[in-house]
Amino acid sequence: MKILITGGAGFIGSNFVRFVLSRYPGYEVVNLDSLTYAGNLENLRDLEENDRHTFVKGDICDMTLLESLRFDSIIHFAAESHVDRSILDSSPFLRTNIGGTKNLLDLAKTRGLRMLHVSTDEVYGSISEGLFTEASPLSPNSPYAASKASSDLFVRAYHETYGVDAVITRCSNNYGPFQFPEKLIPLMIINALASKPLPVYGDGRNVRDWIHVLDHCRAVDMVFHKGRAGEVYNIGGRNEQQNIDIVSRILSSVSDVTGSDIAGLNGLITYVKDRPGHDRRYAIDPSKIESELGWRPTVGFENGIAETVRWYVGNRDWWGRITSGQYMKYYDVQYGRRLS
Ligand code: NAD
Ligand code: TYD
Repeated sequence: MKILITGGAGFIGSNFVRFVLSRYPGYEVVNLDSLTYAGNLENLRDLEENDRHTFVKGDICDMTLLESLRFDSIIHFAAESHVDRSILDSSPFLRTNIGGTKNLLDLAKTRGLRMLHVSTDEVYGSISEGLFTEASPLSPNSPYAASKASSDLFVRAYHETYGVDAVITRCSNNYGPFQFPEKLIPLMIINALASKPLPVYGDGRNVRDWIHVLDHCRAVDMVFHKGRAGEVYNIGGRNEQQNIDIVSRILSSVSDVTGSDIAGLNGLITYVKDRPGHDRRYAIDPSKIESELGWRPTVGFENGIAETVRWYVGNRDWWGRITSGQYMKYYDVQYGRRLS
């Protein structure tokens, strides 16, 4: 089996590429990533000598490039993924998340391939009580969520119209190693380590359901192999947390690991102007994947956060090269000559 994995130099994609290669010794991965600001080949450093992993620097919007690649199935992570950026400029979200997904669907259709489309719980919008199921209406509120909902609808339409063997996963907020430090958890960790302000939007009481990235990877693997074509599977940790509680938990882990004074760390919390259209609460019901495929999250939140804090403490070089912009050069230095 040779799988095309898109976005495999990003946070979840790089964790998934590593997961698949170690779990399936017979599988090969073609990892297609255009290396936007969020793509970082350092995330894949340990796979440089792995001859079952082929990295291709390229854009999912480039149909000619896609047609030149050979593989048996598609797992599609590539996306513009940050809500705040989508509020500033939604154009790249429309291009990649909708246009790029449509290109991959065309390939899956022409070649008769299975395609797993990685989506998000944000397509359902905000919910004040109860849980979103797969049957809940799509009601996206941010430009990011609107672009993901649109791509989900294209996947559905290609299944209904052309019989494409496609499945969709909708996961809640991920955390863990290699997450780009623009998202809540890594940003709070590295700012705390650098004694910088910790910007909490609004009243800090917005709720997200958090899941460790490896539990998400295990779920994607199960849906890819066993999910029914045309179906949607919610993936969630049954772990709702208010943002301010997450920040407090992070600070207590940072204090434990580094010995920093907890009062000083708490003093870094800075309430800032709220995000426009900020969804109050995300909460999804993962019963379908639990009962149909037997998936369960395995990483407890307290341990998961503590381990993630230790990872960022132990990998200051990794995020230091991101904050300095140096990481952008890694591709040219390590790969430029080899791939050109
Ligand atoms: P990320 O921003 O860390 O990584 C995205 C990757 O896609 C980057 O490596 C980037 O270079 C690549 N990419 C972007 N545009 C591309 C293009 N046009 N062609 C090829 N590659 C391109 O994102 P992530 O957090 O790893 O999210 C991965 C997927 O999971 C996304 O589809 C996202 O919507 C979805 N998702 C994320 C979360 C989360 O909490 N992070 C939750 C649910 C779903
Ligand atoms: P984020 O990690 O951007 O994920 P998403 O918006 O896709 O859920 O944000 C998670 C929550 O944390 C969200 O409610 C916004 C909030 N947040 C802050 O309060 N401060 C920050 O600096 C960031 C990046 C997010």
